[in-house]
Amino acid sequence: MKIAITGATGQLGQLVIQALLKEVPASHIIALVRNEAKAATLKQQGVELRRFDYDAPETLAPALQGIDKLLLISANEVGRRTPQHQAVIEAAQQAGVPYIAYTSLLHADHSPLGLAQEHRETEALIKNSGLAYTFLRNNWYSDNYLADVQQIAESGVLYGAAQDGKISSASRKDYAEAAAKVLAASGHENKTYELAGSASFTRADLAQTIANVSGKAVHYQNLSAAEYTQGLLQAGLPQGLVEVIVDADVQTAKGAMYSTDKTLEQLIGHPSTSIQEAVKAALQN
Ligand SMILES: NC(=O)c1ccc[n+]([C@@H]2O[C@H](COP(=O)([O-])OP(=O)(O)OC[C@H]3O[C@@H](n4cnc5c(N)ncnc54)[C@H](OP(=O)(O)O)[C@@H]3O)[C@@H](O)[C@H]2O)c1
Repeated sequence: MKIAITGATGQLGQLVIQALLKEVPASHIIALVRNEAKAATLKQQGVELRRFDYDAPETLAPALQGIDKLLLISANEVGRRTPQHQAVIEAAQQAGVPYIAYTSLLHADHSPLGLAQEHRETEALIKNSGLAYTFLRNNWYSDNYLADVQQIAESGVLYGAAQDGKISSASRKDYAEAAAKVLAASGHENKTYELAGSASFTRADLAQTIANVSGKAVHYQNLSAAEYTQGLLQAGLPQGLVEVIVDADVQTAKGAMYSTDKTLEQLIGHPSTSIQEAVKAALQN
């Protein structure tokens, strides 16, 4: 059994491989990487590295020879992802790969998030390819909210535009564990999994959690989409990223991040990482 992972040097990819190493021998795992220097630790762990660059089509089909299962971790250049994914799917067909798992987005078929479009297109390409598939429709990463948690605790204000929208996020590690479980077992063919956290919270709950964990007063300040956009741009974030963040909050207010689906905890065999645990870990870093 040979299981190949794209984006293997990315944050999710590395966690998937560490989780997969608990399920199968290292000799079963192929890390598909565009920069081998970033994958030295994986090589030391006995994982085979193969060069794989979505933008260098000649690298794709040869790297997929002999692969039984492919995990396509969605690429990270928003707006360029559909053709990049298409190149990978076509290479998988050429190389005779029978199965592909794809990290999609919660409710990709009807999600109002701007990001959903490329996931919808990729899911359609995979279905039309005739390959067996599993769609791992990951909800938002809790990690997204915690990159600037120290600064939020110091300033005492958490800004957003999500109103009291509920967020059923989970940590990258939880989604990685689920992907590894799916890849290591059979019976997941042609299934679509909506993957969301075991519990939900609002932005105000998040502010309260940061306050409780840090011991400092923190409150949530809701802004209009225009105010939030302006604040993020003034803080130096690039325009494209700001659009994604603000759209996510605006759609959160309408329920786009909320789910009571328990498939994630069923796959991993335990509740997903709580927002309290995630905040605690982030504040310790
Ligand atoms: N649900 C959410 O909240 C959420 C949040 C963020 C991202 N995402 C999605 O989930 C994916 C994984 O998340 P992540 O945090 O692991 O992202 P990440 O750390 O940015 O990893 C993306 C991976 O894609 C690889 N990659 C990018 N362009 C490539 C190319 N042309 N050829 C081959 N590989 C390429 C990168 O390679 P290098 O290591 O060489 O750079 C990296 O390994 C993201 O790409 C994005 O689609 C979801």
